[in-house]
Amino acid sequence: MQFRDTQTRYGGLSRAFHWGMALLFAWQFLTVIARVLFEDSALDNLLWGSHKPLGLVLMVLVVLRLFWALANRASRPPSLNLPARLGHLALYLLMVLVPLLALMRQYGSGRSFEPFGLPLMAGFEGDKIEWLMAPGNWLHGNLGWALLALIVGHIALAMVHRRRPQDNVLPRMLGRPVGE
Ligand code: HEM
Ligand code: HEM
Repeated sequence: MQFRDTQTRYGGLSRAFHWGMALLFAWQFLTVIARVLFEDSALDNLLWGSHKPLGLVLMVLVVLRLFWALANRASRPPSLNLPARLGHLALYLLMVLVPLLALMRQYGSGRSFEPFGLPLMAGFEGDKIEWLMAPGNWLHGNLGWALLALIVGHIALAMVHRRRPQDNVLPRMLGRPVGE
């Protein structure tokens, strides 16, 4: 299996990042949809506990994925057009910002955060750090929903592009060159 990207297809690691994170994002959005639609239901109680730890995992993964994308930038399949390029950039921006703002808010709240039992934030006594919490309070949820909207658009466009053979980019994210 080709590990690195080439001009005609994404390599194994880029595809693992893409599809693995797509599954994790699906779970992450299930947790918020269950919370919003069925707060305090059995489903919400089951899912919400994974929102913060999974959010942290997604934060770590997107940083690794960004480094990998940069390391491969000279040898990746070229974007179809400028809007596609900007769309992918916006996805990256939101994938970084949404969990980052939440983690800043978590730290500023002074409450401990121990995902998977790891003592990541010990918490502290005294006043909350308001300036660290404010961006998350304003933007975490809103940008999170914006990310979901962008993902829906991204998937829809991937499907629309399948209609024209020269625009069909799905194969290269499945490990096959376009046209095969
Ligand atoms: C990429 C990862 C993440 C996504 C896509 C995401 C998405 C969202 C969304 C859409 C909401 C809004 C729910 C509503 O409207 O009520 C929300 C709420 C929340 N998230 Fe996240 N989240 C992520 C990571 C995190 C992380 C890392 C933490 C904490 C460490 C966190 C903590 C919270 C909390 C406490 C709320 C409820 C308060 C609020 O609405 O801001 N999230 N998240
Ligand atoms: C069923 C779900 C999905 C499908 C069918 C899909 C399809 C695709 C396709 C065909 C490409 C290649 C585009 C090209 O080469 O020009 C691509 C790239 C990309 N997709 Fe998706 N996608 C899905 C889910 C997601 C999700 C959930 C995210 C992020 C939250 C995402 C983020 C990206 C990004 C950033 C790229 C650019 C390549 C990279 O750096 O990984 N996709 N997607």
